[in-house]
Amino acid sequence: MEAHRRARLLRALDLEVWTSRAAPAGVPVEDDPAPPWADADEPPSATAVATRPAPVSAPARRPPAALLADLETPAPVYVAPADWQGLAEAVRSCTRCKLCKTRTNTVFGVGSTDAPLMVIGEGPGAEEDARGEPFVGAAGKLLDEMLRSVGRARSSNVYIANVVKCRPPGNRDPETDEVAACRPFLDRQIELLKPTLILALGRIAAQRLLSSTAPLSKLRGVPHVYGAANTPVLVSYHPAYLLRTPSDKLKSWHDLKQVHRLLDRG
Ligand code: URA
Repeated sequence: MEAHRRARLLRALDLEVWTSRAAPAGVPVEDDPAPPWADADEPPSATAVATRPAPVSAPARRPPAALLADLETPAPVYVAPADWQGLAEAVRSCTRCKLCKTRTNTVFGVGSTDAPLMVIGEGPGAEEDARGEPFVGAAGKLLDEMLRSVGRARSSNVYIANVVKCRPPGNRDPETDEVAACRPFLDRQIELLKPTLILALGRIAAQRLLSSTAPLSKLRGVPHVYGAANTPVLVSYHPAYLLRTPSDKLKSWHDLKQVHRLLDRG
């Protein structure tokens, strides 16, 4: 019965490649869409197995035991280096996703490693890629002004990073596999910084950070938490969006004042 359960698991995972399936007479094994016992609770009878046609010229395939060994050996988990210096070096030499092929520089993060506030954007743009520092283009200048209005500066009491550390070509959104590959780096930055509050800027950063598909309008204005430490997260507009839509600057200002109040309290 155990073997039967495993067979069902393999089939569910689309990995079933038995060449030894029992086939109705005249039906080539390769064309048989499913084992005859697909919906049965019991494995095929010994007679059914014994009478199956012998594979003639099927290519060599890995036996089920080897496949099961693969299934039972979890993919190795990447463990990011434990300190800031090691982490920065790991990011600099990272080849965990395809963005490494098109980047000029990795963009690790900037600011005080004692900061109570962590600002997280989506990913580097062209200027950030050229300089290796987050938020240094036009949107970055606006971000600096916004932070200054609540007494914060990247040189002293805020830490700024992105969900992905390499520029997605053509300024496209970072893809799921790229965000996943970079996640251990961001998670370690958060673990090391232990921010009192995270401010996620823009829909992409917020959705990727919070693993949500909700629109920004739903994510903004409500508190969230992130990670094992349950770090509070607020979501607000991306400064690049504010440059295009200045009418939303007032709402952004309300968000910043809330950030300020929360940090004052914390
Ligand atoms: N936009 C981002 O989200 N991050 C940057 O670093 C620059 C622009």
